[in-house]
Amino acid sequence: MPKIFVTRPIPDAGIKMLQDKGYEVVVNEAAKDRVATREEVLAGVKGVDALLSVLTEKVDAEVMDAGLPTLKVIANYAVGFDNVNLPVAKEKNIAVTNTPGVLTNTVAEHTFALMLSIAHRISEADRFSRAGKYTAWGPQLLLGTDLSGKTLGVVGLGRIGSRVAMHAAKGFGMKIIYTDPKPSAEFEKEMGAEYVATIEELLPKADFVSIHVPLLDSTRHLMNAERLKMMKPTAYLVNTSRGPIIDEKALAQALAENWIQGAAIDVFEFEPDITPELKSLENIIITPHIASATLETRQLMSVLAATNIIEALEGRTPPNLVK
Ligand code: GLV
Ligand code: GLV
Repeated sequence: MPKIFVTRPIPDAGIKMLQDKGYEVVVNEAAKDRVATREEVLAGVKGVDALLSVLTEKVDAEVMDAGLPTLKVIANYAVGFDNVNLPVAKEKNIAVTNTPGVLTNTVAEHTFALMLSIAHRISEADRFSRAGKYTAWGPQLLLGTDLSGKTLGVVGLGRIGSRVAMHAAKGFGMKIIYTDPKPSAEFEKEMGAEYVATIEELLPKADFVSIHVPLLDSTRHLMNAERLKMMKPTAYLVNTSRGPIIDEKALAQALAENWIQGAAIDVFEFEPDITPELKSLENIIITPHIASATLETRQLMSVLAATNIIEALEGRTPPNLVK
């Protein structure tokens, strides 16, 4: 019977599917509230047919070699797969899958929650109230910014970027501009959106900039000091994609020196470390990489990862094969 190693305990729907198949499923229970250690991963992957990994593990040549010759599929429990070395997996003939689609709405909702919260200063106002600073209603107390009528700049029009744009256009009457290697005439028509060829054209026009690109060599530090300076001083930056896309030191400076109005980020350049300067600033909201973290979605991701494993081990093409 096929053997599966799951690097950290995940919601159980997918685990049950694998067990129902009669597979031997070993879950690394020790890593419930911490990352799996390198030793646990290297030992766990030995002799298995499938590795169910999460984004806190680096799945590189050493891990793959430890799993060979039996390892056939790596099912990454995430839509992002920058933690897996794809070229090496290809070379070693190991399939890699991810969990797109099922988390699109959840991540888009979290992105929107961040946008609304930073614009309406929700976290700051909450801290203010708890600290006993609310002594009188004030005509100018904690004034924020409306989303309605503003321009959202979407960087990367994948599933999540499109969904965020939809909420913005249909729900909040925002104007959409976007940049992506592949423009979509259909999307432009539906959302009344405007395409710009480069991020340099987008940044000076947007009141909110939301990042939805994968982490690649070409997107690392996409938002550096130079580009942060191209944003309006009244604009906000939101990131629910991958941390290293923003130069975090530059962001801290941009916020401290008011090059931009604010930022709301769910991902960090040196995760789980957060650049200390950011934590003392009022004009940033920080969430700990939880944009896909709802009960429903984490179960659906579990089902999808299991489905990918089952399809691969039964000799079919898994639905979410990463190419
Ligand atoms: C989370 O960051 C994911 O890629 O699913
Ligand atoms: C991820 O699901 C994306 O395409 O944005």
